[in-house]
Amino acid sequence: MLHSMARVNQLLEHEDYIRYIEKINELEKKRCFCKHGFEHGLNVARIAYAYMLEKGEAGPLKEVIYAAAFLHDIGRWVEYETGEDHAEVSARLALPLLEACSFASESVQMILTGIREHRQHSEDNLTPLGEAMALADDWSRDCRQCRAQNQCYKFNPAMKLIMY
Ligand SMILES: [Fe+2]
Ligand SMILES: [Fe+2]
Repeated sequence: MLHSMARVNQLLEHEDYIRYIEKINELEKKRCFCKHGFEHGLNVARIAYAYMLEKGEAGPLKEVIYAAAFLHDIGRWVEYETGEDHAEVSARLALPLLEACSFASESVQMILTGIREHRQHSEDNLTPLGEAMALADDWSRDCRQCRAQNQCYKFNPAMKLIMY
């Protein structure tokens, strides 16, 4: 069965989403570490979805998983400007976007929690979506090809393994 992705596609067309991604692209132009634009969101979405499918937790949540993934880092530009943690900012900026795209209120709550939890470790008491976000965020990194391995606080040799 194919799940509708209409709201996710609407989200990607939203002027505020596009504006946030443009700001992030601009501010990360010279960044040697992983970037946080559209492609990162797409990678996290696909990995988190595959992971949750494998665990039998994806169910009807495809739109929710993709929305959370595309929005989890949209507050990065604020962190670059003010130092505020981007997980919190991203959740705050995500709310009006999700409402504008007619996500149901239970979906919105799940997505905001997933976004807030994406920087926590999977051993913590996370929701299934938060755990998937945190793991997919790490697994989405192309550490094998990365020239910044030696300077990256995130790098560990296990991340050179392909999981999804
Ligand atoms: Fe993040
Ligand atoms: Fe991320």
